[in-house]
Amino acid sequence: MGPALLLGLLLSRAGDLMALPSSDCVMAEQLCLSDSTCNATYRTLENCALAKTRLLSLDHDSRVRCLNAELDLGNSSLLHCKCQRRMKRQEHCLRIFWTVHSSMTDGYFNLETSPYENPANEEHWKTDYNKLAALVSGSQLAGDATNPCLRATHVCNLSKKCFRLRTDYASICTKGAGSEDVCDRRKCHRGLRNFFEKVPEDFTKTILFCPCQDELCGERRRKTIVPDCSFQYNTKPNCLWLLDSCLEDHICKSRLADFQQNCQPVDMSPDGCFLHNHAACLQAYMGMIGTPMTPNYVSNSSVEVSLWCTCENSGNQKEKCDQILGMFESNKCLENTIWSQMHLKQMALERQEDLLYSSSLSFQGDSASTSLSSAMSQVAEGKTQRDSSKQSSMPMASSVFSGAATSWPSLALFLPLLLSPH
Ligand SMILES: *[C@@H]1O[C@H](CO)[C@@H](O)[C@H](O)[C@H]1NC(C)=O
Ligand SMILES: *[C@@H]1O[C@H](CO)[C@@H](O)[C@H](O)[C@H]1NC(C)=O
Ligand SMILES: *[C@@H]1O[C@H](CO)[C@@H](O)[C@H](O)[C@H]1NC(C)=O
Ligand SMILES: *[C@@H]1O[C@H](CO)[C@@H](O)[C@H](O)[C@H]1NC(C)=O
Repeated sequence: MGPALLLGLLLSRAGDLMALPSSDCVMAEQLCLSDSTCNATYRTLENCALAKTRLLSLDHDSRVRCLNAELDLGNSSLLHCKCQRRMKRQEHCLRIFWTVHSSMTDGYFNLETSPYENPANEEHWKTDYNKLAALVSGSQLAGDATNPCLRATHVCNLSKKCFRLRTDYASICTKGAGSEDVCDRRKCHRGLRNFFEKVPEDFTKTILFCPCQDELCGERRRKTIVPDCSFQYNTKPNCLWLLDSCLEDHICKSRLADFQQNCQPVDMSPDGCFLHNHAACLQAYMGMIGTPMTPNYVSNSSVEVSLWCTCENSGNQKEKCDQILGMFESNKCLENTIWSQMHLKQMALERQEDLLYSSSLSFQGDSASTSLSSAMSQVAEGKTQRDSSKQSSMPMASSVFSGAATSWPSLALFLPLLLSPH
């Protein structure tokens, strides 16, 4: 069997995964290690992954061996496993995922398959958000009601967890600001990830995506993530450098794959999104915050977001660099997702049609809208399922052949690499 055929098989398998509920990679690994055949195959894959992190270029035979090992996993639950966004041993889980899928990570970043479970299959906790928000809109802060970002912070302050984790990252990220020594960016990033992972989305979403009418509010919104420490460097690095540092890190690589999958733009769609899952796209965007590829608002006066990097002086890599930057700067799906989050209230009243695409409503837990929104999100999910089964024969290549997401790093870039005898 030639490598092209092998790859085709792999891809068609990967396609089936999208619709199935998947198992947890940590459990799947344990299961595999207790079976001697699976164990041996898994060890081979570990070596393949190891060789790649050491940047040893694999010869043709090794590539085929690694691909074969992936195929040998057959219908083992390992091949289908995913990780939860809020799980305990997340990094361990992600390492397993990338070990199993190491053959897909050759060279360029091309992944559209998220290691994370579809948010619709994840548990969502009930929160006291609406109760606390009602307290704030009650009376004492009437003057502040004009600044939705300030108001969102007030609501956060009323929740013990939100208050604590926000204070945590704020103090880490502002340490050293203004003085000679620089802040500890890694710690700041960890603090931010902690905040966005552990605080219920009702709080984090309203803080980060508060709708602003003026620049004072916009400045507060832009500064939510303490950009002086978490976002800006002295000079803007090249976006490809930023990408490289992201791919070296299991968390960042995973978040980027999740972002690429869930915020993938297409032209011929009312909301600009391939998957029409605004909740998942929003979550994926927030997942990038606290990674080396942290995005943020570009100014106090707009909702445009970008990365802190440039594609100047990229030479013959300019096109690829623009693709990376374009995922954030000119991504219709992301723009529409952020816009509809900011206008959620008005939209719910005025434009029921658009609700079809905003299943994020189902996470609001607002008792008044629960039944409506869950009905809506069922429709939206049904649509997503159909869309993913339609492309199931070749999910990663679909964007190439449909011409839909031409501005995205695509499989076309990576096929020649994988198959070239080295
Ligand atoms: C799995 O592989 C490791 C390393 O090759 C070996 O030490 C271990 O005994 C194997 N376990 C089983 C259950 O085969
Ligand atoms: C796939 O799973 C079924 C049981 O679910 C098993 O009987 C079969 O042998 C497995 N096939 C492979 C190739 O592992
Ligand atoms: C929230 O709490 C922080 C930390 O005590 C405080 O600095 C801030 O002013 C509070 N913000 C609001 C809007 O209540
Ligand atoms: C807006 O952003 C700039 C920095 O880019 C800052 O100097 C300015 O004070 C901000 N605030 C307002 C209200 O314009």
